[in-house]
Amino acid sequence: MSVNSDFEKRILCIGAGYVGGPTMAVIAQRCPQYKVTVVDINPDRINRWNSDIPPIYEPGLWEVVAEARGRNLFFSADVEAGIREAEIIFVSVNTPTKTYGAGKGMAADLQYWEKTARQIRDCAESPKIIVEKSTLPVKTAQAMKRILTAGELADRFEVLSNPEFLAEGTAISDLTDPDRVLIGSDETPAGRQARQTLVDIYANWVPAEKILTTNIWSSELSKLVANAFLAQRISSINAISALCEKTDADVAEVARAVGMDNRLGPKFLNASVGFGGSCFQKDILNLVYLCQYYGLHEVADYWKGVVDINNYQKDRFVTTMLTAMFNTLAGKKICLLGFAFKADTGDTRESPGIVVARRLVEERAELVITDPQALENAQKDLADIADQIRFEPNPYAAMEGCDAAALLTEWQEYAALDFERVLSGMTRPAFLFDGRNILDHQRLWKMGFNVFSIGRPALTHFDPARS
Ligand code: UDX
Ligand code: UDX
Repeated sequence: MSVNSDFEKRILCIGAGYVGGPTMAVIAQRCPQYKVTVVDINPDRINRWNSDIPPIYEPGLWEVVAEARGRNLFFSADVEAGIREAEIIFVSVNTPTKTYGAGKGMAADLQYWEKTARQIRDCAESPKIIVEKSTLPVKTAQAMKRILTAGELADRFEVLSNPEFLAEGTAISDLTDPDRVLIGSDETPAGRQARQTLVDIYANWVPAEKILTTNIWSSELSKLVANAFLAQRISSINAISALCEKTDADVAEVARAVGMDNRLGPKFLNASVGFGGSCFQKDILNLVYLCQYYGLHEVADYWKGVVDINNYQKDRFVTTMLTAMFNTLAGKKICLLGFAFKADTGDTRESPGIVVARRLVEERAELVITDPQALENAQKDLADIADQIRFEPNPYAAMEGCDAAALLTEWQEYAALDFERVLSGMTRPAFLFDGRNILDHQRLWKMGFNVFSIGRPALTHFDPARS
């Protein structure tokens, strides 16, 4: 008997990224009876999944991979063999915002995704269930089905939508203990049967009441809307942070008072330098494009405002730095504390750090960037100006001799830094810009720093009569 036939099901995932890798690792860990293979067109990525150095930093991930890898979890660069063998294929390839042609800067670029659909069609020798994991515009499953059914196995592909709700940094707990799992399918007997197959996989560890089934378009749209609502909360509190800075209100106090309303809840109300990550901006722009396409211009404008406020917030942060430091940054040494788009990840996609770093270099500041996990990605993001930036893993060494430090990522280790030591190495006047409000501002001000935060009055040592 072959090894393959020992497994109850053969699952394939195309795309070994931040979503595909952790999701498949958890399925494999929770379901040893299934064979789970993850393929990717990038052989380097596959090699890293097969090595001792993971291609992505995600707390708890490596323990899960170590348990299942070689048992029922496999990483391979042979996409075609993977397709032939599997009964269920998750597609988790990237769908970035288009950078060309119609919908440039807004619509999702579906080229990889469509290429994957064609490859599945051309390699498949038996019926398959195709599961959309990538976030896609509404009605993409239908397009995928059209591509798949243009082949010989026309009636033997079922396409399901199963959007991913994991957040980086908490991916493993989001996967093992999800708020909900959403599965959309065609409301046909074959569609419902395919949906049940996927429900049965998740039912290995997710309680039945958390597995929602819907029609395929509701499922696709729900993912965009969930991300739009989450991002909207951040833009809402960030918009209020600008008002707080003009008055004597403290945005953290406002957020606390607002969030204690049971109907609103306390989460996602942390004012910040702006949201980043591969999903929020892309998904909202996707939603905006969809609304425009259907002629819903007021709706499109409403959601576009969420992205506009986010851009405004990043811009405002740099303006605060510039005005605080006497309207010139030229020749000043500035350290960015953190570059990842959030703590507990090395991911820098759409990180506010990218915008802030570029603006500061434009102002001719001397830039030093530190981050415990994201320096490799930071160097790639800023490759064209990397010769003007120093990348320094040690935060104390990074801030040595600086005029200012700007905290951009809420790594807990930054809150625990010895700021007396930091201050002793900095140029005076020393400035701290806290883009995440995680530092003890009063204490730092008393120590001698000029402290600027988000949504709170600045704490400076300058004589107002002279300014
Ligand atoms: C991706 C999508 O960006 C997101 O919209 C969706 O919600 C989940 O999948 P992520 O896993 O974070 O998110 O992307 P990324 O880390 O870039 O991984 C995608 C992988 O797909 C890459 O490793 C890439 O090499 C691979 N890929 C891409 C293929 O294997 N085939 C392709 O044709 C294109
Ligand atoms: C998000 C969604 O949360 C997840 O459900 C979806 O599957 C993918 O997109 P992710 O982008 O990984 O996940 O992280 P998230 O925790 O949502 O943070 C996104 C950005 O918002 C980060 O830059 C974060 O720092 C910022 N943020 C979050 C704030 O600025 N304030 C907050 O209160 C919360």
